Amino acid sequence: GKGEYEHFMLKEIYEQPTSLAQAIEGRVDPNAGQVSLEDFEPGTFEDVDSVQLVACGTSYHAALYGSLALNQAGVQATALLANEYSVTAPPVTEDTLVIAVSQSGETADTLNALRQAADEGAETLTVTNVVGSTAARVADDALFIRAGPEIGVAATKTFSSQAVMLTLLAQRIADDVRGEPPADLESLLPALADMPEEIDTLLEESAADAIAREYIDSQSFFFIGRGLGFPVALEGALKFKEITYEHAEGFASGELKHGPLALVTPETPVFAIFTGEEDEKTLKNAEEAQTRGAPVIAVCPDGHRAVEVADDHLAIPDTDSDLAGLHANVQLQLVSYYAADLLGRPIDKPRNLAKSVTVE
Ligand code: M6R
Repeated sequence: GKGEYEHFMLKEIYEQPTSLAQAIEGRVDPNAGQVSLEDFEPGTFEDVDSVQLVACGTSYHAALYGSLALNQAGVQATALLANEYSVTAPPVTEDTLVIAVSQSGETADTLNALRQAADEGAETLTVTNVVGSTAARVADDALFIRAGPEIGVAATKTFSSQAVMLTLLAQRIADDVRGEPPADLESLLPALADMPEEIDTLLEESAADAIAREYIDSQSFFFIGRGLGFPVALEGALKFKEITYEHAEGFASGELKHGPLALVTPETPVFAIFTGEEDEKTLKNAEEAQTRGAPVIAVCPDGHRAVEVADDHLAIPDTDSDLAGLHANVQLQLVSYYAADLLGRPIDKPRNLAKSVTVE
C-alpha cells in the first residue's frame, strides 16, 4: 500500500535512498576501487567495439544517460529510441553490444528492437527491474536494478536505479574495452556509496514544494542541462508534462539560443541543472533566458555561483559530476509531484497513459 503517503509516486520518490542502496549493493567496492557485476567478470566486454542502448520514454532518458557516461569513459555508444529502431538502426556486428533498458521488460517497442538486434547478430543485454520479464528471457544477459515494484505510472525510482546501473556498467565496459579503469572511477565509487544518505537529506530539506507553488501559474516550464544534465532536463520535462498536463520541454543548455529562446518570456520558468560539466556555459545560457524575463531556478550545490544569479534554488550535494544529475532529478521529480498535486491531477494514473505499453 501507499502507507503514510498520499500517492504511490511520492512513496516511490522517497524510496530512492533504499532502491539505490539495493542497486549498488555488492556491486561497488570503494576500498578495492572496483565495480563488480555478478556474472560479468573482468574481461566479459573485451571484444565490444560499440554499444547501442535501446529504450522508450523515461527509460530512454536513462539509456541516453548511460550512453553519455560510456562516451565520457571513452567507449563508442549511442542511445536510440526503440520505436525508431526498425527504420533507422545503425548497423550491428557480433562486436556490438545492444542494451535494452526497460523497467517492465515488457515494452513492445523495446522488445522489437532487442529481437531485431539479436537477429542481426549483436550481443544483447537488458537492464530491467523485473526478473522473469520477457526482456530478461530474450536478451543474452540481464542486469537487474532491484528497485522493487513501482506502481505509479510515472517512473521515478526506476529511472535513478537504471541510470546508476548503467553508470556502473559503463565503468565495467570501459575497463574491459580500454584495458584500464576509467580515470574518474576513484571519485565515482565513494560518491556512489554516499548517494543514498545524501538523497535522504535532499528529500528532507527540499524546497520543491514552495517552488512548485511559486510558479504553478506559468505558461510553460523549461528544463536545461549540459552533458549528463541533458538527459535529466529531458526527464524533468517528461515527468512534468506527464503528471501536471502542463506544457514542458527539456533542452540541451546550448540549444536554447538556436530556437527555443523565442518561447522564453516571464511566463516560462527555466530550471537550469548544473552537473559540474562546463557550468559557466550553462549559467550563461540561463542568464540569456533571464534577460528575457524568465525566472531561473538553479539546481546546483549550495555556494555555487549560479545561486547568486538565479531567482530560486534547489539544492543538490556537491558530488561527482557522474551523479550530480541524478540528485537534480530527484528535486525535479518533487517539483512535478507538488505541481500536479496543486493542480489536483490524478497523479498515479495520468490520463491516456499506461504503466506498461505492450502495443507498438
Ligand atoms: O517499462 P519501460 O521502462 O520499458 O517503459 C518505457 C516507457 O513507457 C516508460 O518509461 C514511460 O515513459 C514512463 N512511465 C514515464 O514516466
